[in-house]
Amino acid sequence: MKIAIIYTSKTGNTEELIYLMKKIFQLKKVELFLYRIDQFPLLDLIKFDGIVVGTYTWGMGEIPPEMMDLYHAFEALDVKRVITGIVGTGDTGYPNFCGAVDRFKNMLFVQTELAVTLKVELTPQTNDVQRCERFVNIFLELLNYQNNKTENAI
Ligand SMILES: Cc1cc2nc3c(=O)[nH]c(=O)nc-3n(C[C@H](O)[C@H](O)[C@H](O)COP(=O)(O)O)c2cc1C
Repeated sequence: MKIAIIYTSKTGNTEELIYLMKKIFQLKKVELFLYRIDQFPLLDLIKFDGIVVGTYTWGMGEIPPEMMDLYHAFEALDVKRVITGIVGTGDTGYPNFCGAVDRFKNMLFVQTELAVTLKVELTPQTNDVQRCERFVNIFLELLNYQNNKTENAI
C-alpha cells in the first residue's frame, strides 16, 4: 500500500508536524512518499492508496494559495477510493482556528474516503505526539479495512 504525505509550510510549524507524522508512519513499515506541494505531480494523486495533506492556515481561515491546485485536483480526479487524512497547524488567536483544515476536510469528505483530521496549535508539543499516533492508527485501520474489502471479493 502506497501512502503520500503532501504538505506546505511557510515558517516551519507544519513541516515539524509532518516530520513527526512521517516518523510514526515509518514505524508501521508502510511504503511512504513525502512531498512538499511544489514537488508533487498532481496527476499522481490517483497512484496512491492513502494520502495525508498537511497545511497551515492563512488570511481569515483560508487555504494557502499554493495548495489550491491540489484542492481542485481532488475535485477533478477519480479519487473516491483513496483514504485521506488532513492535518494542519494554526493559531487559536485567529477567529477561524485551522480554517484550511476544515475547508479541506469538507471537500475530502465528499471526494474521497476521509479517515481522520488533526489540528495542532503552532508547533507540536509533547501531548501532540500521542494525537499523531492516534491519527496514524485510525488512518491505517481504514486503509487496511479498505484493502481487505477488495481482496475479499468472492
Ligand atoms: C497573515 C496570517 C494569517 C493567519 N490566519 C490564520 C487563521 O485564520 N487561522 C489560524 O488558525 N491560523 C492563522 N495563521 C497562523 C498560521 O496558520 C500558523 O502560524 C501556522 O502554524 C503556520 O504554519 P507554518 O509554520 O507551517 O507556515 C495566520 C498567520 C498569518 C501570518
